[in-house]
Amino acid sequence: MTPANPLLVAYYSRSGNTARVGHALAQRLGADELPIEDLRGDGRVSVWRAALDRLLGTLPPIADPTVPLENYDLVVLGTPVWGGRPASPVRRFLHEHAAHLPRTAFFCTMGGKGSDSTFAEMQERLGRQPRATCAFDAGMIADDGYLDRLDSFAGQLADGAQPPLNHTHAWNGIHVSG
Ligand SMILES: Cc1cc2nc3c(=O)[nH]c(=O)nc-3n(C[C@H](O)[C@H](O)[C@H](O)COP(=O)(O)O)c2cc1C
Repeated sequence: MTPANPLLVAYYSRSGNTARVGHALAQRLGADELPIEDLRGDGRVSVWRAALDRLLGTLPPIADPTVPLENYDLVVLGTPVWGGRPASPVRRFLHEHAAHLPRTAFFCTMGGKGSDSTFAEMQERLGRQPRATCAFDAGMIADDGYLDRLDSFAGQLADGAQPPLNHTHAWNGIHVSG
């Protein structure tokens, strides 16, 4: 099955921040959207369960993707930062699907620190460098202060349809590589 859109935004969100950014990004890009669903409980794990996942390195059960990941040109994968790491359902998503992902970019939302180590683990699990990364502070999401950064990130991802860059550079916390 060939998706109508060349871009997919997939994300896990426990308390709504990453979903808000992911949804806004998908709207800007005209992308399909895939919320990653933790199959435990009623879908929203407790803070304590999330912290325990982080400590134990849990790979929880997640729902199968409802779209053909490998048929997109670019998948943008979003996660909350949990203890300087990707959330456990996103770790599971990469564990299950890294081999089927096309070009991939990452974003995260966080209280204030841990994006570099989060992206590093995601890159390790993906097995290759992401096309771009972008981190969003939760405080800026609450009052829409993240929208300028979101627009910059969306612009870089849209440029991904052009021939890839042959260098890495960063500005304003957004990293892009070819
Ligand atoms: C278990 C747990 C661990 C967290 N660890 C960090 C952290 O290391 N650094 C940080 O900046 N924020 C941390 N946070 C805050 C979340 O990353 C932040 O609130 C994020 O935006 C939540 O995304 P969500 O609303 O999509 O679930 C943590 C939150 C939880 C629940």
